Amino acid sequence: MVHAIRIHEHGGPEVLRWEEVEVGDPGPGEVRLRHTAVGLNYIDTYHRSGAYKLPQLPAIIGVEGAGVVEAVGEGVSALAPGDRVGYAPGPMGSYAEARLIAADRLIPLPSWIDDRQAAAMLLQGMTVQALLRSVYRVQAGETILVHAAAGGVGLILCQWAKHLGVTVIGTVGSEEKAEIARAHGCDHPIVYTRENFVERVRDLTGGAGVPVVYDGVGQTTFMASLDCLRPRGLMALFGAASGPVPPLDLQVLAAKGSLYVTRPTIFSYTAKREELMASAADLFEVVHAGAVTIAIGQTFPLRDAAEAHRALEARRTTGSTVLLP
Ligand SMILES: NC(=O)c1ccc[n+]([C@@H]2O[C@H](COP(=O)([O-])OP(=O)(O)OC[C@H]3O[C@@H](n4cnc5c(N)ncnc54)[C@H](OP(=O)(O)O)[C@@H]3O)[C@@H](O)[C@H]2O)c1
Repeated sequence: MVHAIRIHEHGGPEVLRWEEVEVGDPGPGEVRLRHTAVGLNYIDTYHRSGAYKLPQLPAIIGVEGAGVVEAVGEGVSALAPGDRVGYAPGPMGSYAEARLIAADRLIPLPSWIDDRQAAAMLLQGMTVQALLRSVYRVQAGETILVHAAAGGVGLILCQWAKHLGVTVIGTVGSEEKAEIARAHGCDHPIVYTRENFVERVRDLTGGAGVPVVYDGVGQTTFMASLDCLRPRGLMALFGAASGPVPPLDLQVLAAKGSLYVTRPTIFSYTAKREELMASAADLFEVVHAGAVTIAIGQTFPLRDAAEAHRALEARRTTGSTVLLP
């Protein structure tokens, strides 16, 4: 038996229960993984609350982790007990001391990446890889807008974009967060809780607007973000930290300048093993080069996952958060 955080019903952080669960032996193609670090992601709050309904309850939530292989099942030849690995995005079940997982979702960890760093960066870092290299391929010299620039995705995105020669405008919820974002490559932090970010973006771009907005905040920023785009610009809506965006009248996109909207998820950008490994390789390269540093703003014991969820949803975290089994 191991301990895990399970939910028996959807709801607030109080539904996260620390319980004993059976892990068992790995089946064909699986390994048993002992977690040393678990990544906290905003999607965990959607799985907990029911914003994303889970097909089956009770369930162990969490889609990112790092640790050591304990045992391998039949047919697993690329991994052996003692190997260090990480994984994201999913499969769900990382809020546990140990778990079974398909070997083909695991990413071997180079010795220079420690387990906490891996659990902090895989999901958010590969999301940034997809956003900057595939969803909209940024070019040196461009100016972009990113919301929640001091968050987990935000700090990685600011640094990576900067490394690619891009000027970054970023929104943040406080002066303290503005300083953190600035220290991680955000050229122009805007405190959107007191400043009008549309006006600021227009000022900063000489009235032209930006070619892309990366918006993980959603409900409170979406419509105004469309006004920050240049004609034929792309709104990349990749999350809903403030709540889901209501249905959109597509005529709005015509009226605001032939805009594009996409709603990407990391799952569809890393579904194939070769996509997953290519994305991880890109991420490892920028981290190894020192272009992107992974800011672990806070850690919590895994058993206190409810506290971590409260902090994340109350906008009290910065950078990435790691849960420690
Ligand atoms: N599509 C994908 O595949 C994918 C993958 C990873 C993450 N995401 C999305 O990306 C976003 C960021 O994820 P993350 O894990 O890095 O989280 P995070 O950015 O570290 O935390 C969320 C941040 O959103 C901002 N925010 C604005 N309004 C908020 C509100 N009403 N309630 C809570 N937060 C609010 C807060 O920053 P300020 O105080 O600065 O406003 C908060 O710190 C999330 O929406 C997540 O779902 C999507």
